Order: sequence, then structure tokens, then C-alpha cells
Amino acid sequence: MGTLTVYSNRRVYRLDAVPGRNLAEILREGGVALPKGCDGHGICRRCVVELRLGTFSVADDVVTVDRGDSVPVLACETRPEEGDAEIFVREE
Ligand code: FES
Repeated sequence: MGTLTVYSNRRVYRLDAVPGRNLAEILREGGVALPKGCDGHGICRRCVVELRLGTFSVADDVVTVDRGDSVPVLACETRPEEGDAEIFVREE
């Protein structure tokens, strides 16, 4: 299990990237104020975050993000893969 570093408009969090959990679940369990929306049905788009580094499962694809890149995704449809990862979140 890697570390998920979360940069937000408020502070920096270092959370466990728990295998099998999506980013919305990890963020909420870690105390990050991710906007609430459609409870993970992929409809409201209020849970958009930016992938900044690492490898993630996004819906049915695997996406690897290099430092300097920024890939917007839905947190409720994205899971971190093995290794450390970094994301940016705009908290409510
Ligand atoms: S919570 Fe609605 S799209 Fe993710």
C-alpha cells in the first residue's frame, strides 16, 4: 500500500492509498472535504480531482501520470494502483 499525498486549497494530507478503495472513499475517510454529490454514481461531477503523479484505475482504464501533468477525473470512479501517488483537490 502506497501513500496518497493530497494537495488541497487548504492544506496537505498524507493518506494510505488503501487497495480497492476509490479516491472519494479514501478522501472522505481521511477528513478531506470533498464536495458531496450523487454518492458515487458518476453523474454530478462534483467530485472532480486532479491526478498529479502515480498510477490509477480510472473507470475501465489504467492511467499513469508523470510529475508536471494534471489529469482531471471523477474521484468516485478512480482508484490508486500500487505505489505512491499525488492528487489535487478543491475542498468545500
Ligand atoms: S460523486 Fe457524483 S460524480 Fe462522483
